[in-house]
Amino acid sequence: MSDVKKEAKIRRLVCYRYNPEHCPQSYYSVYDIPFVLSMTILDMLDYVVRNLDATLAYIVHSRCNQGLCARCILKINGKSRLACLETCDEEIVIVEPVDKKRVSKDLVTKL
Ligand code: FES
Repeated sequence: MSDVKKEAKIRRLVCYRYNPEHCPQSYYSVYDIPFVLSMTILDMLDYVVRNLDATLAYIVHSRCNQGLCARCILKINGKSRLACLETCDEEIVIVEPVDKKRVSKDLVTKL
């Protein structure tokens, strides 16, 4: 198998991290995700928590997964998007909260 084919199956997810209880500074964590066709950003975050890093905080409960509730809104590669609808076209995906001033932990913001 060529390296190009092998690389095409991986997406790099770069996630904003912030936990004021442990560290006053934010930082980014990097995860390599095995890519599946039509995988959404929310699917990628689910994969991270289930397989790579259970400490990453993001919306898990009470989500519609259909673009209706807007609870999954995140800044994805610099643009505000619904993570449950946004698929992964880029090899590197940077995920941040829409409003970093209201972050309670990582990708979770206060209402
Ligand atoms: S989970 Fe409801 S809009 Fe994305």
